[in-house]
Amino acid sequence: MRYCKNFLQSLVYLIPIVKAASPSEAQILQFDNVGYLGTYRHVGSFEDIYSDECSCSLVEEPVSFSGVNSPLDQELSVHFRGPLSLSKFAYYVSSDFSIESEDNEDWSRLAYYDAEEGLAENVTFLTTAGRNSSCLGRALTYADSDGLSEADSPTILDADTVLDSEQEFSIFSNVSCEDSGVNNDCGVYRDGIPAYHGYYGATKMFLFEFTMPQESTVERDSVYNWDMPAIWLLNAHIPRTSQYSLNANCSCWRSGCGEFDIFEVKNYTSSEVNKLYTTIHDYQGTDDIETGLQINGYFDRDTSGIMRGGVIFDNDGSIVTFMSNSTSFDSSLTGSSISSLISNLDTDVTTALASVGESSSGSTDSSESSSRDSSASKMTGIGSLIFSVLTFLLF
Ligand SMILES: *[C@@H]1O[C@H](CO)[C@@H](O)[C@H](O)[C@H]1NC(C)=O
Ligand SMILES: *[C@@H]1O[C@H](CO)[C@@H](O)[C@H](O)[C@H]1NC(C)=O
Ligand SMILES: *[C@@H]1O[C@H](CO)[C@@H](O)[C@H](O)[C@H]1NC(C)=O
Ligand SMILES: *[C@@H]1O[C@H](CO)[C@@H](O)[C@H](O)[C@H]1NC(C)=O
Ligand SMILES: *[C@@H]1O[C@H](CO)[C@@H](O)[C@H](O)[C@H]1NC(C)=O
Ligand SMILES: *[C@@H]1O[C@H](CO)[C@@H](O)[C@H](O)[C@H]1NC(C)=O
Repeated sequence: MRYCKNFLQSLVYLIPIVKAASPSEAQILQFDNVGYLGTYRHVGSFEDIYSDECSCSLVEEPVSFSGVNSPLDQELSVHFRGPLSLSKFAYYVSSDFSIESEDNEDWSRLAYYDAEEGLAENVTFLTTAGRNSSCLGRALTYADSDGLSEADSPTILDADTVLDSEQEFSIFSNVSCEDSGVNNDCGVYRDGIPAYHGYYGATKMFLFEFTMPQESTVERDSVYNWDMPAIWLLNAHIPRTSQYSLNANCSCWRSGCGEFDIFEVKNYTSSEVNKLYTTIHDYQGTDDIETGLQINGYFDRDTSGIMRGGVIFDNDGSIVTFMSNSTSFDSSLTGSSISSLISNLDTDVTTALASVGESSSGSTDSSESSSRDSSASKMTGIGSLIFSVLTFLLF
């Protein structure tokens, strides 16, 4: 069976050479070769934020980054959009974990939310219930127990909180930022918000237990993201300045500080509404940050059952999203338990990002396989090696 499946999947792999294959259902979606030499720019100041002349300026001097998983090695905040109910969330770090290795260090849990137990350890729930600004949108506030209203202090969500379409909350650590300032730990952020650090680490893991029920109360035409739930990560600087701004100078997003969509429904059409995609938004291998690079595969959205899964950023530049009911949220997880969780999953779709130097861009290689060390993934390795040699020669 296994052999037969491998064989069929290698045939599937050959098809994209002729014609891009349509996305296939998977249990693992994997980016390889993540991290590049690049720059982005932070917000330096806001002007007249409550007038129509509201504007923002970026700091002149760009931030340079490089290395494994960059810029997603920076502190990230975690974002949720309905229809969704979150029952567990956990964040882990490890001193050494590689998807390809059998010999890995353990994972330590540094943040944990358990709705049923009413536990929120190193978790701060925020939402955009504050004052509206024409260029910044609504300000971040503490979320009340419904995830949506403003609270005066950190508050744990009600266990049965369900977001409707378009509604959002976010999770930050409980480590407060210093005052807003170009040279301070969290940079410049919007006045008056509860400002917290995101979750650090080049090698890190986020796990989730959640439901994404079909939208049943909100009218289709009343909101933009109707029945399109999502869980995603942002460079934590973005929401502290402005998450949704049409003005590119009001956050570091446009200049490429990083977004990673873990599980995202991208369209409410009947063929797409139950497919969860994984996408990177930065400038590695693309000039089009709006579209980003999406892996050519998806997870099934189970609209009636509980889903468990997450994302692993390993120390070889692989970022893996997965869906598995065997996901456990223990305070410590052995390296081997996570390795075997991943290797027991059946179908994976892998995209190797092109190796790029500063301000260059290129294409990506895609492969599908059902084995961790298939020749397909080796080919993408060689493809990106050739691309790095070309990049090297061009500069
Ligand atoms: C942050 O969370 C940790 C873990 O739950 C806890 O020990 C610590 O007291 C919290 N710190 C603050 C400032 O709330
Ligand atoms: C915030 O203000 C902008 C423009 O001033 C407006 O377009 C937008 O609808 C407002 N948003 C909310 C949530 O009130
Ligand atoms: C909470 O998370 C932050 C951000 O990653 C981390 O720096 C801090 O050590 C964590 N706190 C605890 C108590 O683990
Ligand atoms: C952003 O700032 C640049 C200067 O760095 C300026 O030229 C541009 O007009 C600004 N964009 C907006 C939308 O304000
Ligand atoms: C959803 O797909 C339809 C039909 O392909 C398209 O017209 C529409 O713009 C898409 N919506 C979004 C949010 O991408
Ligand atoms: C995972 O378990 C939940 C119950 O805990 C169930 O509703 C769901 O169908 C299961 N999913 C899979 C893929 O087996």
